[in-house]
Amino acid sequence: MTAPSASGLLTSGCVDPALVPQRVLYNGAKMPAIGLGTFGSDHVSPAEVAAAVEGAAAVGYRHFDCASVYGNEHQIGYALQQVLRSGIKREQLWVTSKLWNDKHGESDVIPSCGQSLSDLRLDYLDLYLVHWPFPNYHPPGCDVSSRNKDSKPYIHTEFIKAWRKMEELVESGLVRHIGTSNMTIPKLKLLLSDARIKPAVNEMESHPHFQQPELFEFLRANAIVPVGYSPIGSPGRPDRDRTAEDSVPTQDPVIIKIANRLGVHPAVVCVKWAVQRGQVPIPFSINRNHHLANLEGVVGEPLTDFDMREISAIDRNCRLIKGQVFLWKDGQSWEDLWDVNGRITPP
Ligand SMILES: NC(=O)c1ccc[n+]([C@@H]2O[C@H](COP(=O)([O-])OP(=O)(O)OC[C@H]3O[C@@H](n4cnc5c(N)ncnc54)[C@H](OP(=O)(O)O)[C@@H]3O)[C@@H](O)[C@H]2O)c1
Repeated sequence: MTAPSASGLLTSGCVDPALVPQRVLYNGAKMPAIGLGTFGSDHVSPAEVAAAVEGAAAVGYRHFDCASVYGNEHQIGYALQQVLRSGIKREQLWVTSKLWNDKHGESDVIPSCGQSLSDLRLDYLDLYLVHWPFPNYHPPGCDVSSRNKDSKPYIHTEFIKAWRKMEELVESGLVRHIGTSNMTIPKLKLLLSDARIKPAVNEMESHPHFQQPELFEFLRANAIVPVGYSPIGSPGRPDRDRTAEDSVPTQDPVIIKIANRLGVHPAVVCVKWAVQRGQVPIPFSINRNHHLANLEGVVGEPLTDFDMREISAIDRNCRLIKGQVFLWKDGQSWEDLWDVNGRITPP
């Protein structure tokens, strides 16, 4: 085996996965501190995403963030099979999947997880998340103005019914950990008081222009690992998720200044910042050079304390993934989904 260089790079153009930091979950299990996102944002095909999974594993990624709604688990399953055939052991991988919003019903949770397992060609998932706290169906690719007349708000007693089934998945061994996504502090407080098995992680939007400091601290205080989605500011997100007010973290002068000093793309600075802050970024990419650059960034020279302070000061509270399709009645604004007043928005 080739010896790692000081930066953690192997001469073969990959990063030794053993050098990638791990996050310790509340039960002592460890997850790789960076994962590969697999949402093709409606314009990257399932085959391309599956090829990216294989390519990313070859350069040293071991963590893959999947979801049934991304419509590509079947193809990713073949890619994972190839990864396992290449000699990487199942226990060296971390695979996440997510329960989609129209499958919160008590009789739907376990079969939906079973479908993801079958598509991904796995015996167990490392992590299964409830993708959104709202049990609302909307068709893939629909416009932000699209509303389902049966849409419902967050109803805790209903959510707990789905969570009990998530707990059953852990008890049966099909899933090692369960977690939440797109939750708020008041919703998490209710869940923490009623869960028999607490969420191990919460997946949330997180990048230098949307740092969510309160939620981040709440998670840390409750030993829940923050997984940060859209860590680069989701430059390829669908048009439906764009508004005129959105900012671009990779164009921020502070990020560009640090990137120029380090001789890396601004995206790499966003990824480095995320890992160093203590969250788990899951950048999407179908470009092998970008996979490598992101991993090198994570194992390479850390950002300075000054860099970290400068990045902490450029937060703009700019949420990019607003979730408008989940609104459940007329006259609401997307902020209602996020409990911005510190209490769950009433039905
Ligand atoms: N839980 C949820 O509700 C939720 C919501 C949104 C997203 N997610 C997850 O989070 C993942 C990531 O978020 P995202 O896909 O929205 O956006 P993102 O990771 O912020 O941005 C992805 C974009 O960054 C580019 N990129 C990556 N590394 C780069 C590098 N080193 N240099 C230059 N460009 C680079 C990619 O282009 P190339 O392909 O050209 O490299 C791609 O266009 C998703 O794929 C999904 O798994 C979860």
